[in-house]
Amino acid sequence: MTARVVPVELGERSYSIHIGSGAWRLLEEHLRGRDPAGRVMIVTDERVNSVYGRRIGELGEASKPPAVVAVVPEGEGSKSFAHLEDLCRKMAGAGLDRSSLVVALGGGVVGDLAGLASSLFVRGIRLIQAPTTLLAMVDSSTGGKTGINLPEGKNLVGTFHQPEAVFADTDVLRTLHPRDWYSGMAEVIKIALTLDPELFLYLEEVTDLGPDGDVDIARVVTSACRRKAEIIEADEWESGPRLILNFGHTLAHALEASMSYGEIRHGEAVLLGMKAALALSKRICGLPDDQFDRAVRVLGRIPVPEVKLEEDLLGYMTRDKKRSEGRVQSVLLEAIGRCRIVPLDDPGELVRSLSSFHSEG
Ligand code: GLY
Repeated sequence: MTARVVPVELGERSYSIHIGSGAWRLLEEHLRGRDPAGRVMIVTDERVNSVYGRRIGELGEASKPPAVVAVVPEGEGSKSFAHLEDLCRKMAGAGLDRSSLVVALGGGVVGDLAGLASSLFVRGIRLIQAPTTLLAMVDSSTGGKTGINLPEGKNLVGTFHQPEAVFADTDVLRTLHPRDWYSGMAEVIKIALTLDPELFLYLEEVTDLGPDGDVDIARVVTSACRRKAEIIEADEWESGPRLILNFGHTLAHALEASMSYGEIRHGEAVLLGMKAALALSKRICGLPDDQFDRAVRVLGRIPVPEVKLEEDLLGYMTRDKKRSEGRVQSVLLEAIGRCRIVPLDDPGELVRSLSSFHSEG
């Protein structure tokens, strides 16, 4: 087993991210070694359960008494009040209490939903994140954001609830759907463009960013988690630097909501949002042409389905959580690895930037 450890220093809420092949064995040891006071619940989704059900059973047996397993439907639709209620009721039914622990074992949807339920049930119980998708490994499992969606917008209901540990077993990425792999890779590019020029150079050098390509995935996940940990340490509650992690997200969340969630992967929407933000960065922040071209070239290596830009995108953008004084806060690049947060009087600029991209081909 070759796990790397990235610490997240948050005082009494500090924790470690364990990354690498076989990291679930560390999770198993963690469950075996914990005080058996409260019941453990492992939350997963139907797809992950169909592929890893036996392994999840073994993990559950490691805790005493054995963990209960709650399975939610696959997909963004599970991030709803109905599924939140269902999960909280399962927690009550299984006898969870304040000494209990929830293990969110799945992608971003499971992490966000189980994270939110664990922060609400009996006013908050402990949480472990065991992300099974690349996107969850490099982004959503770290930093404590939890949430569900409303028809009015993505992640509009949620809490901050830090996990006590994260176990990212890169072996499970072998069974990831290629679209989910690329969706996670888009978030990796986001971290590289905004925070890590060295990681960006590495991504440029790799010949194939796909699931069967030559990316050293443990290295990439570790770099992304390290950068994200630094940001969380500087701004846990997203009042400043953490906003940088939303590069490409204002338009992305609007695209996802306008397409009723699910038709487009989160990372695919972020990729389109990043393209639009890059075009604005060139115009507003002086992002040099050569860096713009390099960024677009790397993004162009990630396949994205055709999307129709719906007319209601603007409405979704103006309901974005990251508004301040009525203006949408957009993250733009001055250079690769250097960002600026720019209030946009007219968020339509982002939509027009993306359309112009499409028309330029
Ligand atoms: N996904 C962005 C953040 O954690 O702040």
